[in-house]
Formats: sequence, structure tokens, C-alpha cells
Amino acid sequence: MKIVNIVGARPQFIKLAPVLKAIQRYNEEHKDLPIHEVLVHTGQHYDYKMSQMFFDELGLKSPDYYLGVGSGTHAYQTGEMLKRIEKVLLKEKPDVVMVYGDTNSTLAGALAAAKLHILVAHVEAGLRSFNKKMPEEINRVLTDHVSTLLFCPTKTAVENLRCEGFTNILNDGELIPYPPDSNLLIQFPTVINTGDVMYNSLLIYGELAEKHCNILQKLKLEPKGYALVIVHRIENTDNKERLQSILQALHRVAQEGLLVVFPVHPRTRKVIQDLSIDLSSFGFKLIEPVSYLDMLVLEKNARVILTDSGGVQKEAFFFRVPCVTLREETKWVETVEAGWNRLVGYDPEKIVKAAMEARPGVESAWPYGDGRTAVWIVNLVRSLVYREVYFTD
Ligand code: UD1
Ligand code: UDP
Repeated sequence: MKIVNIVGARPQFIKLAPVLKAIQRYNEEHKDLPIHEVLVHTGQHYDYKMSQMFFDELGLKSPDYYLGVGSGTHAYQTGEMLKRIEKVLLKEKPDVVMVYGDTNSTLAGALAAAKLHILVAHVEAGLRSFNKKMPEEINRVLTDHVSTLLFCPTKTAVENLRCEGFTNILNDGELIPYPPDSNLLIQFPTVINTGDVMYNSLLIYGELAEKHCNILQKLKLEPKGYALVIVHRIENTDNKERLQSILQALHRVAQEGLLVVFPVHPRTRKVIQDLSIDLSSFGFKLIEPVSYLDMLVLEKNARVILTDSGGVQKEAFFFRVPCVTLREETKWVETVEAGWNRLVGYDPEKIVKAAMEARPGVESAWPYGDGRTAVWIVNLVRSLVYREVYFTD
């Protein structure tokens, strides 16, 4: 059996890591019938600190194909990816293409495969923010509707798909029991609650991060003595008033005595430069994007996290660090319901108040599975492709 994994942007390298480990483990246990894995990197992210740094740190294999698409408008970027991915798929003829999350690389991979009648497996299926102005929402909806295997991180994601007409829902959307019933009736497309793959990544790399990272010492940070900021969502960066409003609010947080640590995404850095915004007097610790392990340490030790990143909202919840989300809605609704995440949009008063008064949420049912997501996904792909059920511990 052959799988082509398609990635291209920072969060996808982090989601890919546990899946590659699970494939490796599967192959060690099934030497007679291994999975042949081919890795495609679209080149959507290309700076060292947005791409190669993650391959080096997480010990990922080098991509078998680097497509070098780079930046551009949505149509340009997605179109170039489609053309180049199609060539790879025609050559490799895989049984399954696996795509991750909701970036342009996700949509291009799914569409190119579906048009060639190759099974598409979507990791992080079913998430919705119900805001079609977000490019990611369009990518999510379209990817799900050309996918055959929809691996959902939460029950909410399953219910979103049920509302959109998906009817083949394994175990009625509850986390599949382990080991699963060997009489599963599989009909495509299939929706499966596998738990969250980023939680799986955290369990694999969290301890390593704590042991080996000295980012707090390097940046002279005290545990719980700073606010961590990650802002790069297009709706915030490409709207001058919004960005200025957020930056002014963060300035006020710094003036109130809470150090603001801000690893700046290249999109955000470019807009700040283009608008000639001078942050030198804002009292921020502005740094380059950090590695995943450093990020985990920074998140765990923050007093509060202010962000518009999807993955970072969820990691704040994993670490039980209060999160202030600089957006009007989120696809990670469980974090809000449990009181660990507050949606404040870009109103400076709300941002400052939420940051300075950040409080723990409540202990609630754990929505993200048991952290064995990647092993389940790999075994499910294998089983579903061959229409058999074949699970290992
Ligand atoms: C993309 C995803 C977004 C995800 C984010 C993760 C889409 C539509 N958006 O947004 O869902 O949250 O990645 O970080 O796919 N740039 C560089 N160097 C790089 C990469 C980008 O300088 O290595 C700059 C370029 O100016 C580029 C801009 O950042 O135009 C935006 O990059 P792009 O990949 O188009 O979108 P992101 O904002 O990164
Ligand atoms: N991340 C990182 N370094 C950074 C910022 C983020 O390693 O400087 C990690 C973060 O821990 C999370 C993932 O990148 O695992 C989230 O990706 P991003 O914010 O780029 O995208 P999103 O989740 O918003 O799609």
C-alpha cells in the first residue's frame, strides 16, 4: 500500500510528525506488508524558521518531493500546487493521499487526488468557524467534501459533518474504542473521531522540550512572568485598523507591567514593516519564530497567551494556560466552553481586560482523545483501504 503525505505550512509539519512515527512503527511490526510512504512538501512555507527547522528538530525525513511553490495570491498558490501535485500523483499512483488541517496545501492536495480518483484522508476534518471570509474555512469545507476518510479531532467536528450530510459515522462519533470491533461496517465516505493529532504531538515531544530547551533562560523569562503573543491571521494582519488596535492593546498590557513576548510570523513582520509601525518603544520582546520545542516551553510557562492561531489556542488548553483569542469566532469551541479561552476580537479594552484578568477555566470532559491518534489513523487507513479491519496496539 502506498500513502502520499502532503504538507507545506508550519502547523502541518507538527501534525505530520506523529503520523510518520506511526507509519514507521507499523512497518517495523508488519515487515511482510509495509506501508510505502512518500512525502510531498509544497513549499508554501520556505524560510528556515518556518520549515526546515521543524524537519531538523522533529527528526522528520526529507521530503521526497519539494515543489517550491512559495508565496502568492490564493489562486496562484493553490493553482501552482495543483499542477505540481498532480504530476507527483500521476507518477507515484498512491492508494491514499493524506492531507492535514486547512491551508492552501491541504486543499490543493485533496483536490488533485480526488480528481485522479485517489482516496483522500483528511486529518483534522470537520472543524468549522462558520466564517466563509476566512480562506481556511473554504479550504476545510471543500477538502472535507472530496475526502473519503474524515479523521475528526473532536465530537463537535463529527457533528459539524453530520449537519453537512455525512451519514457514515463510525461509533456514532464517539472516540472509537480501542481495539475496535472487528466487525466494523465501513462505507465511504467515513467520518471517524480519532482524537486530536496535535495532542499526540505534544505527548511525544513535550517531555523532550522540558528536558532540552533553555529558551526561558535564553530570553531571561520568569515562569508565569510574561504574556505570549502569536498573531498572523490574515483578517488581523491585512486590516490596518485591526492590527493597530491589537498592537496598541498589547502595548497597554506591557505598560501594565506584564512582559509581552512576541515571536513574529513573517506575514505579520512584513505588514508591520510595510505600515512603518515602530514597535521599539512598545516594551515587547520581539523575536523570530521559534522551534516547536521552544514554543511548547514558552506556552507552558506563560501567564496568559494572546493569539489568533488555531493550534496555539489548543496548546494553551493542553497546558491549562488561559488564552485570549484575538478573533470573533474559533473552530476550537471546547476551549471556550471550558472557560480557558476567551474570544475578544480586536477591541483594545476587551483585550487588555482579558489579558490582565486571565483566570483558569474549569475542569471538564477531555475533548481531544487519548493521544494515540496517529497510530489509529495509520491503522484505519490501512484497514479501510483494504476493506478489512486490522489493528495493532
Ligand atoms: C498559512 C495558512 C494558515 C496557517 C498559517 C500557519 C493558508 C490560506 N493559510 O498562512 O491557515 O495558519 O499558514 O503559519 O494556507 N512568508 C515568508 N516566509 C515563509 C512563509 C510565508 O516570508 O516561509 C510570508 C510571505 O510574505 C507570504 C506571507 O508570509 O506572502 C503569507 O504566507 P502564506 O503561506 O500565504 O500564508 P500564512 O499567513 O502563512
Ligand atoms: N509554533 C511554533 N513556533 C512559533 C509559532 C507557532 O512552533 O513561533 C507552533 C505552535 O506551537 C503550534 C503550531 O506552530 O504547534 C501552530 O501553527 P500556526 O500558528 O502557524 O498555524 P495555525 O495553527 O494558526 O494554523
